[in-house]
Amino acid sequence: MTIIAVFNQKGGVGKTTTTANLAAAMAKNGLTPLAIDLDPQAHLTALSGLNPKVERTVYSFFNQQTPLSDLVTQLPNQVNLIPSHMELARVDMMLSQNRHDLRRLKKAMAEEMLSSSDTPVLIDCCPMLGVLSLSALMAADVVLVPVTAEYLAMNGAQQLDQTLKGLATKGLYRPRKVFINRYQRGHTTSEKVAHELTRRYGKDFCNTRVFESQSVLESVGQNKDVFSFAPDSEGAEDFSYLLDELIESGFIKVNM
Ligand SMILES: Nc1ncnc2c1ncn2[C@@H]1O[C@H](COP(=O)(O)OP(=O)(O)O)[C@@H](O)[C@H]1O
Ligand SMILES: [Mg+2]
Repeated sequence: MTIIAVFNQKGGVGKTTTTANLAAAMAKNGLTPLAIDLDPQAHLTALSGLNPKVERTVYSFFNQQTPLSDLVTQLPNQVNLIPSHMELARVDMMLSQNRHDLRRLKKAMAEEMLSSSDTPVLIDCCPMLGVLSLSALMAADVVLVPVTAEYLAMNGAQQLDQTLKGLATKGLYRPRKVFINRYQRGHTTSEKVAHELTRRYGKDFCNTRVFESQSVLESVGQNKDVFSFAPDSEGAEDFSYLLDELIESGFIKVNM
C-alpha cells in the first residue's frame, strides 16, 4: 500500500493532526496503518499519549541501526506508531544529504516489508527540509500537503514544490496533493486562499476542506484522535471524507 509523507515547510499547518487523524480514519475502516513520527518535536508521539525512552524511538533506527519493526507500538485505536524523541534532531548533523544516507529509511522499510499489501504508512514530517524530511520524501510514494487558510502556509507548499521538482529531475518523481485545513466558513482569507489553491493546483487540490473545529482542537488536548474523542463531530467527518477522496482519486491505494 501507499507510503504517504505528510509535509509542508511551514509549521503549524496540521501535519501532525492530519497524520494522527488519517491514520485513525484508516484504522476505523479496518486497516492497520503504520504512522512514523519523524519530527524531533515528537508531537505525534505526545499526542498518542507516549513518552518513550530514546532507545525505543526512531532515533535508535538512525543511531544504532535498530530495525524499524522493533520500534513499533500499537495504540488503543489500532494504529501502529513508531515514536520520536527530541534527540532525533541530531540526525541532521549525524548523516549527510548524500543519496546513500537519504535512502536508509526507504531501504529499511522495503527490507522489513513495512508497507505490505495491507499496511498503509503515514510519515509525519518536521517543517525543516533536512535529512529527516528528505529521507521521508525519498521513502514516500506520495506527498500530502496540508495548507492552512493563510498566505504563509501557501508559501510553504510552494517551497515544497521546488523541492519535489528537484527530486523529479533525479528520477524521484513524487505526486502530491494539497488540501486546506482549518478552513473557516465565511472567512474572507479562507475563501481567498481556497480560491488561490484551486487556481494553482487544479485537480491536485482536494475538494474536501477540513474545517477549523473545536473537536479537532480539543481531541489533541485529550491525547486522542478525533474519532475516539468525538466520533460524530464535524472534525471526524472531515477526516473521513478526506480519506475517501484520497482513496477514490487513486492517490492512496489500499486493500479494503
Ligand atoms: N482542523 C483543525 N481545527 C482546529 N485546530 C486544528 C486543526 N488542525 C490543526 N489544528 C491545531 O493547530 C495546531 C497545529 O497543528 P499541528 O498538526 O501540530 O501542525 P504541524 O504538525 O504542521 O506543526 C495544533 O494545536 C492543532 O491542534
Ligand atoms: Mg507537527
